[in-house]
Amino acid sequence: MGAGDLSTHPDRMRWNAKYEAAGEPRFAPHPLVDWALVADVPTGPVLDLACGPSGSALRLAAEGRAVTAIDVSEVALRLLQDEARRRGVDGLVTTVQADLSSWRPSPTEKYAIVLCTGFWYEQVFLRAIEAVRPSGLVLWEAFTAEARRRRPSLPAEWCLAEDEPAALLPDNFSVLLQQDLPDQGKRRFVARAE
Ligand SMILES: C[S@@+](CC[C@H](N)C(=O)[O-])C[C@H]1O[C@@H](n2cnc3c(N)ncnc32)[C@H](O)[C@@H]1O
Repeated sequence: MGAGDLSTHPDRMRWNAKYEAAGEPRFAPHPLVDWALVADVPTGPVLDLACGPSGSALRLAAEGRAVTAIDVSEVALRLLQDEARRRGVDGLVTTVQADLSSWRPSPTEKYAIVLCTGFWYEQVFLRAIEAVRPSGLVLWEAFTAEARRRRPSLPAEWCLAEDEPAALLPDNFSVLLQQDLPDQGKRRFVARAE
């Protein structure tokens, strides 16, 4: 598999199969989006990483935000595009098929909101925060080490350590929310760039 060739990428194949088997998605926005909608967020576009068939992208597009939605699964991206067209927001939703482990943010394109839910790799987080514009928000939710204690098959690199993501932030970010959801083994997190 060469760089950029996703034909045999294991994440792509696994998630395509999941989305094909799952039937019509619910397109429910993530609760962090409600949080962002009442926060003071600058104008500007949204980046939704590991978006899936993202109700969050659709909700933010309905608010008039341009959304770039990235995922390795073209099945998820097609579901999202089709629903965006049904809702009349397809002009605001751009889908990009990419493997986030080799993704790099554009040095010039900055986002008012960078959102990622249900996915964690430290390197992806570190690159994602480079894409946040001044006063913009990074919103994240991922599994914690607690989830791994319950499901030892979860790879460690998919799980937040005790002090993450806060400990990975540079000084120009302040943490607005860090909430553990012990029953789900997840942590929600919001930070603002200076
Ligand atoms: C648990 S789902 C989360 C989807 C959505 N963000 C949500 O909260 O419902 C994880 C998503 O990550 C995507 N994904 C997995 N590995 C990936 C990779 N290496 N690069 C890009 N996306 C990936 C999957 O296709 C899937 O849509």
